[in-house]
Amino acid sequence: MILNTYDFDAAKKAAPAEEGPRQYYFIEQARAVLRERFEAMVDSGEAMERYGSSLLGQLQAEGKYGTFHIETFGCQMNSRDSEKLAGVLDQAGYKEVDGEDADFVLYNTCTVRDNANQKVYGRLGYLNTLKKRRSGMMIALCGCMMQEPSVIEKIKKSYPFVDLIFGTHNIFKLAELLCGKLMKGGRMTVDIWEGTDAIVEELPVDRKYSFKSGVNIMFGCNNFCSYCIVPYVRGRERSRRPEDIIDEIRRLVADGVVEVMLLGQNVNSYGKNLEQPVSFAQLLRQVNEIEGLERIRFMTSHPKDLSDELIEAMRDCKKVCTHLHLPVQSGSSRILKIMNRHYTKESYLELVDKIRAAIPDISLTTDIIVGFPGETEEDFEETMDVVRRVRYDSAFTFIYSKRTGTPAAAMEQVPEQVVKERFDRLLREVQEISAQVCGRDEKTVQKVLVESLDDHKEGYVTGRMSNNTTVHFPGDESLIGRISDVYLEEAKGFYYMGRPV
Ligand code: 5AD
Ligand code: SF4
Repeated sequence: MILNTYDFDAAKKAAPAEEGPRQYYFIEQARAVLRERFEAMVDSGEAMERYGSSLLGQLQAEGKYGTFHIETFGCQMNSRDSEKLAGVLDQAGYKEVDGEDADFVLYNTCTVRDNANQKVYGRLGYLNTLKKRRSGMMIALCGCMMQEPSVIEKIKKSYPFVDLIFGTHNIFKLAELLCGKLMKGGRMTVDIWEGTDAIVEELPVDRKYSFKSGVNIMFGCNNFCSYCIVPYVRGRERSRRPEDIIDEIRRLVADGVVEVMLLGQNVNSYGKNLEQPVSFAQLLRQVNEIEGLERIRFMTSHPKDLSDELIEAMRDCKKVCTHLHLPVQSGSSRILKIMNRHYTKESYLELVDKIRAAIPDISLTTDIIVGFPGETEEDFEETMDVVRRVRYDSAFTFIYSKRTGTPAAAMEQVPEQVVKERFDRLLREVQEISAQVCGRDEKTVQKVLVESLDDHKEGYVTGRMSNNTTVHFPGDESLIGRISDVYLEEAKGFYYMGRPV
């Protein structure tokens, strides 16, 4: 039932209390408001002016009443969240468009390093220009950066044209927040929660790829590495129940998904806080049983919690990809201790040996921070030593970024010039090794899941091997989402050129 669509207080009273149905209720309410406004715009001719005839025709054909655009910063967690946010906006009656010239623009932000924050501030000015030209345009911000009080203060002061701000703990409330804005309007709405125990299942999702999907298995992080802001902005660890995860994957598979990426800040501690504790290894075995699913990936593993049981499960489960992302952060045991990582250089290297003994063809990738406070040349050399010993397929290298409120922010910082010079040395080493390592499958046949048409070469497609290496080979659109046998003709450093067999 649609109530008086401009009475948000009445709508709230009439809404179901349980979050799932409640948000669907608000989706319908928002849809009714958008529809009414859109129809008025069509009647007055404003819609033609705003969208142009081609887009307007598409909106009408698809039963949509406006446009939205989401810009996602940061990690796979955020990408998955954005698919959920897009699902809500789509069902509320908005059509997704490429650029930011849209009726509802949402930035899903990241704050893990300061450059992520700077990007958002940089683009807000541009949004304001767009908003001045587009009556009724709404600008919303969400994600990790919004969980920082200093950010909210800055936006209130310097970017007052933002309409809606919410955080990481209440993203499932988007429909309700949107409804409030549509019905009540008014100045900036800020709704930030400090934490939550809620895990809301069964909200709409609009997937970016038809054949692969992220699946959250847990939220938050309890590790408090001394450089990292994530535990402060994503809250404490909460695991989803295995039956909910399996159900979701079954539904995804029924909908055409062949590859899933199980997502959590630290998947190796999955399930510890459930009523009936389950280990990540047990979950992996259950997911491996799902018929129709072809590939399983997961992200991220903390070395301190990677058990023998998990290594065995990875070895036994044929669908689990031969790729492990195992962030080392630093090769110096002294620095690792100050980082609060709970492992040493030696124990990390032993772990790598153990994994390689069990799964010889595994690809290892990592994250490395350069210039953590107090890092000496000797500490840095230890990191270089780990890189040379492990020989990663690839490594994400980061310059340490000071995050307010974390313990490392108060420690003595390394001069910028020194960090820059080390960073360049590390990057060269990492790239040289990775070019050698990535070529090891040249002249063999491998299974490649095709992801898209090749951006650079007409008549080619691009896909990934189980170990995550990219392959380009001749093919057309019909291969997208399918696994092909491909002969790897030539290793090109980070990718292969191949031909189908
Ligand atoms: N500075 C630089 N890099 C960081 N990371 C996390 N916090 C910081 C920081 N303050 C890196 C870590 C982590 C990855 C997601 O981001 O390497 O694994
Ligand atoms: Fe960024 Fe970390 Fe948040 Fe992901 S979880 S969006 S990397 S701060």
